[in-house]
Amino acid sequence: MKKNTPRKSAFCSENDISLEELHQLCGTEADFADFPLASSLEKNVLVYDGDELRRAVKQGQSTEFQSEMAAVFSSGPGVLVLKDAYGDTTVIDRMNIVFDHLFEEQRLFTAGSDHFSKAGENSRIWNTFQKSALHSPDAYIDYYKNPLIRLVAESWLGPHYQLTAQVNVVHPGGRAQICHRDYHLGFQENDEVSRYPLHAQIMSQYLTLQGAVAHSDMPVESGPTLFLPYSHLYPLGYLAWRDERFRDYFARHAVQLPLLKGDAVFFNPALLHAAGANDTPNIHRIANLLQISSPFARAMENVDLYQIVGHIYSTILEKVRGNALTDTELNTLIMNSCDGYSFPSNLDTDPPRESMAPLTVEELCHNAVREEWSDEIFKQALQSHFAKRQP
Ligand SMILES: [Fe+2]
Repeated sequence: MKKNTPRKSAFCSENDISLEELHQLCGTEADFADFPLASSLEKNVLVYDGDELRRAVKQGQSTEFQSEMAAVFSSGPGVLVLKDAYGDTTVIDRMNIVFDHLFEEQRLFTAGSDHFSKAGENSRIWNTFQKSALHSPDAYIDYYKNPLIRLVAESWLGPHYQLTAQVNVVHPGGRAQICHRDYHLGFQENDEVSRYPLHAQIMSQYLTLQGAVAHSDMPVESGPTLFLPYSHLYPLGYLAWRDERFRDYFARHAVQLPLLKGDAVFFNPALLHAAGANDTPNIHRIANLLQISSPFARAMENVDLYQIVGHIYSTILEKVRGNALTDTELNTLIMNSCDGYSFPSNLDTDPPRESMAPLTVEELCHNAVREEWSDEIFKQALQSHFAKRQP
């Protein structure tokens, strides 16, 4: 693998991106011999056989597979397919019935929103992980007892990970997504991304694993996800994917594999990817998207930041009015005392604004101080902010 050139600064902007650097990485052809447990290598994507994996789990031999998968996600192509991840597809059919029910409930009771696609082209349910457990314990249990989900998740994140799931149905005629990276930093605008030192941007890929279980057959013309193998290795990728030249490059070099109901695909969240266009007249492409998080991104102590900022707000305002805080001190104080991160949230009741991230308490507090809200108004705003983010 090519060694990355050292950069002058840990803080980069979109002016520092280089298509040539991406091209050098993505020109890599995976060597099938490096992945002896895979059943095939198709278009630079490793394919693993579900039956073989189930056998390995039964015989207590999953570690070898996990070790190989860790290599796929880190220095390898960054993406793998699990054929027959669900050997018994009636488990999927039963979960699809739960999804139908949840869609109906959503249609009747909420205005479901989706910040990733144009209205009408797709249908989405946030948090199917929790909603399916509440709707049908049996369907949930049969779906989430699948040891292959655990095998792959642990290969990248280790134990004690947290699953979240969202179902996405792309209807006939649904257009392709633009290429992007995923959560965490894939949900942030360039200005926000560039505030993180580059090592933190690179590190963030180790905190999540992205997956999708096919809940319908997905021939290529129905638009299964397009991937650009090895693109996760490009350090500045979080700043690059909005650039036209990178999008063109993605369009010319991305690969796409057909999936059958019960197959699953897993990938490094830093891999450039995009859902494809559904050019079929009649296939509703259904995927249950799995976003799996490392337990590491949590603080040591539980701190009630809502309580802290609610309690000190009137004193802050007093000091601002008396010029007792410089702007730098105020900004630092607010950053230290408020949650400045948009997630986790409830995306049904706390939808993102014009960007892909919902309003944070840090932003709320800045607005309040700037506009000199009363203590009462600020506390009410905090309460409703807290309430709309609960599951
Ligand atoms: Fe994505």
